[in-house]
Amino acid sequence: MAFELPPSSAKRLDDLYKRLQDDVERFVGYPCTAEIDYRELFRFLEFPINNVGDPYKDGTLKLHTHDFEREVIDWFGRLLQAPENSFWGYVTNGGTEGNLYGLYLARELFPSGMTYYSEDTHYSVAKNLRVLNMQNIMINSQPSGELDYEDLRETIKINRHIPPIIFANIGTTMREGIDRIDRIREILDELAIPGFYIHCDAALAGMTLPFIDGAPEFDFSERVDSISISGHKFIGSPIPCGLVLADRNNVQRIARSIEYVGTLDTTITGSRNAFSPLILWYAIQRWGYDGFKERVASCLENAEYAVKKFLENGVEAWKNPHAITVVFPRPSDEIIERWQIAVQEEIGHLLVMPHVTRELIDEFVADYLNHPDTSSSAADS
Ligand SMILES: Cc1ncc(COP(=O)(O)O)c(C=O)c1O
Repeated sequence: MAFELPPSSAKRLDDLYKRLQDDVERFVGYPCTAEIDYRELFRFLEFPINNVGDPYKDGTLKLHTHDFEREVIDWFGRLLQAPENSFWGYVTNGGTEGNLYGLYLARELFPSGMTYYSEDTHYSVAKNLRVLNMQNIMINSQPSGELDYEDLRETIKINRHIPPIIFANIGTTMREGIDRIDRIREILDELAIPGFYIHCDAALAGMTLPFIDGAPEFDFSERVDSISISGHKFIGSPIPCGLVLADRNNVQRIARSIEYVGTLDTTITGSRNAFSPLILWYAIQRWGYDGFKERVASCLENAEYAVKKFLENGVEAWKNPHAITVVFPRPSDEIIERWQIAVQEEIGHLLVMPHVTRELIDEFVADYLNHPDTSSSAADS
């Protein structure tokens, strides 16, 4: 029988629910879709499910969702052109874990390798590199957020004797700049680098670019070694999650057989969330390839609308091609607070996710114009 909370505690939950209901109305600054409904999955919260171990090798613990996890990974494998019999993956706790995993595989392959990543890279990556104790060099970015290829070429050239590990951003956090895998490979070919590793951090754009005709390619057909995507970003999830795909041969180098759980230890954490694979699986059933394609197209159109709306009102907003991130001059603290806007130095951004309608964009732009940033740095510039 369900436990009944004392009235004062029940009220705490009611108040929290109301606060979240209110805050989700103006959720435009972070790359997470708010349009989600996973009610069908409630009943699975009755079980102590756990996806411990390798999703492709069931162990002694039967309360798992490995079969659904495999289906999710296989779906992404097809989406990202992974060679059918030689890729592997698992559902992670989010983009950060997938990036940690890619870097871990790279380090096992090239223990004395040098990791290159742009200055626009997500803050968690520098921490991952510290955790893994990997040598690294930060590369300049272009104003779009994309890697500065000239700087990359010159820096690799100086370190030609060290195997390069390229951490490529497939959509940077603030500007959604895309590091071009074809340009990176050109540099590696030109410098005749014999061995290298490429990891793609496709936290957000991993779920948009594959659905956009003519968008830059970053998938396994470009011969990258691993890809990390967040699940709670474009797909949407109440529990942060993601997935990582990698070359199975590289994963086998780190696999250890564990008698205690009767499976292989191939993942970063031991106990793993068995509920988030259900969420991703459910979303794939609900939207499918065509549904996601439509959603991405609609977000792109709305992002273009947002840029136009800002420009019509004299605000210098812009976005990268194929991006749903609209960049504009840093707003006032009032706007940052009310609309949950992520800012970095002189810029802020709007993430045109599936729940961000044109009406919401109009409301945001009007509020932005009515509450200009009057802080000293804005006034000085
Ligand atoms: C480019 C990029 N990489 C990695 C991450 C981290 O992903 P997560 O929050 O899913 O751990 C983010 C989060 O915003 C991101 O924008």
